[in-house]
Amino acid sequence: MKPVYVGLLGFGTVGSGVAKVLARNAEEISRRAGRAIEVKRAAVRNIEKAKALAPADVEIGTDPLAVVDDPAVDIVVELIGGTSDAKELVLRAIANGKHIVTANKALLAEHGNEIFAAARAKGVMLAFEAAVAGGIPIIKALREGLTANRIEWIAGIINGTSNFILSAMRDQGKGFDEALKEAQALGYAEADPTFDIEGHDAAHKLTILSAIAFGTPMQYEHAYLEGISKLTREDIAYAEQLGYRIKLLGITKRRPQGIELRVHPTLVPAKKILANVEGVMNAVLVNGDAVGQTLYSGRGAGSEPTASSVVADLVDIARLLTADPGHRVPYLAFQPDRMVDLPVLPI
Ligand code: HSE
Repeated sequence: MKPVYVGLLGFGTVGSGVAKVLARNAEEISRRAGRAIEVKRAAVRNIEKAKALAPADVEIGTDPLAVVDDPAVDIVVELIGGTSDAKELVLRAIANGKHIVTANKALLAEHGNEIFAAARAKGVMLAFEAAVAGGIPIIKALREGLTANRIEWIAGIINGTSNFILSAMRDQGKGFDEALKEAQALGYAEADPTFDIEGHDAAHKLTILSAIAFGTPMQYEHAYLEGISKLTREDIAYAEQLGYRIKLLGITKRRPQGIELRVHPTLVPAKKILANVEGVMNAVLVNGDAVGQTLYSGRGAGSEPTASSVVADLVDIARLLTADPGHRVPYLAFQPDRMVDLPVLPI
């Protein structure tokens, strides 16, 4: 059977991880997917850097339209981030009948309602496991494993950079700026790290989790957010003396009149699990009425952890493409035509 051909938009930290994981685990991946998955094209900013990292047979250029318009590309993987070019390219790829895998939480949280509707209208699959909590399969857990539950609340550490900074300030006595620079050097931070430290990135991810858990549209514009940039080592030390750790938490809760959707630094008792999640690790607690509390943890950012989620989505889509079209299930994590009307409550 012919391979599934992938076009990559972006070949930075995550894109190079995707190429590596696909190459290293090619045998297992093709067995699980029912056919090989190959990167055919990549659109990049820095051709020389990408050529050094990509397999020799990948066609590399700078024009993203060469990827989204290539008739041979089955799945477009969007890894360029941001919301304007990414939105245009994803909508164009959908119009061209491509399936989409994206790690772009800002794009989905801010424009997901429109993008999901476009994907549904065109009948293409849109998968986004890597958009939330890096390598933790939290989207699949909510969409599949917990689908019998009425979800009551979700609380978690969902920004690796800010958790890395808070841990480095507490454990190694590092200053905020020094710790942020280290997170950037390790490839954890957003292109504009304000998104990490001011809570936007966590709010984007929380918006997506909340929409899936409660069946609502994306409501990012109503999220309450407060970041960690004003925290000092003294704040962290005082918290410690009182038996707490400061963590940037994303919390979403179902209430009778609507939902809470909030991101802010939180005092977590030092004995609780979330207080002990350190460095780039993320952790998400989900409370469902049938199952009770479940916990998911793992690396929330970085090249191969994020690639692990991107490739999982590629395998999922490849499996469905391999199946008889009559037996494909709709892939969308939520259904634009079956939304629940739960407004975000003011804080
Ligand atoms: N900047 C993000 C983080 C990357 O630190 O969590 C993963 O989404």
